[in-house]
Amino acid sequence: MMKNTSALWLLILISLLSCTTNQARLTVSPSSSQFFEGDFVSLSCEEDDSSAGWTLRRNTSKQQRTQCGDGWGEGAGPSCNISYIFTLDSGVYWCESREGPISNMVNLTVTGGSVILQSPVLPVMEGDDVTLLCKTKTPPTSQLLSIKMAPSSGSSLQVT
Ligand SMILES: *[C@@H]1O[C@H](CO)[C@@H](O)[C@H](O)[C@H]1NC(C)=O
Ligand SMILES: *[C@@H]1O[C@H](CO)[C@@H](O)[C@H](O)[C@H]1NC(C)=O
Ligand SMILES: *[C@@H]1O[C@H](CO)[C@@H](O)[C@H](O)[C@H]1NC(C)=O
Repeated sequence: MMKNTSALWLLILISLLSCTTNQARLTVSPSSSQFFEGDFVSLSCEEDDSSAGWTLRRNTSKQQRTQCGDGWGEGAGPSCNISYIFTLDSGVYWCESREGPISNMVNLTVTGGSVILQSPVLPVMEGDDVTLLCKTKTPPTSQLLSIKMAPSSGSSLQVT
């Protein structure tokens, strides 16, 4: 009986460890999910365990599961630069390890238009202060908006 219990604890410990050691987070720089055509965008998988072999992949309207360097971006494995981003680069981006786990996903939208809303890429918690920037391409200006996420449904928009 005693033996079974310790075996169970060992199993739980092992699964906890494998959950925490095999993770990556996709970061986007500049931190925004909207870009102008022609912008420079740098993507990287911030990993806990680099031996897991993280690869950056994306789905766009034209191609699925392509990796950086395979027709888009420069770089290999966990970091990638897109020196001139096109509207066709809009899509969902994520990091994937050889063993299968994937990171958070990020939707990037590239516009050929003249105004974008620059908002944080990471999920926003209630009560957080969030900074949004309205940016225009020509002339390059930005208008700062500041909002606080309301604790209940919806969000209150307080422009400051
Ligand atoms: C990417 O496309 C593949 C193939 O269509 C699909 O199986 C997968 O779920 C898509 N991934 C995301 C994150 O949308
Ligand atoms: C991406 O660009 C950054 C900043 O210009 C540079 O430091 C980095 O080495 C580049 N990475 C790759 C994979 O080209
Ligand atoms: C990305 O965009 C697609 C289509 O607009 C949407 O279904 C999906 O939930 C979005 N994913 C994220 C992580 O925002």
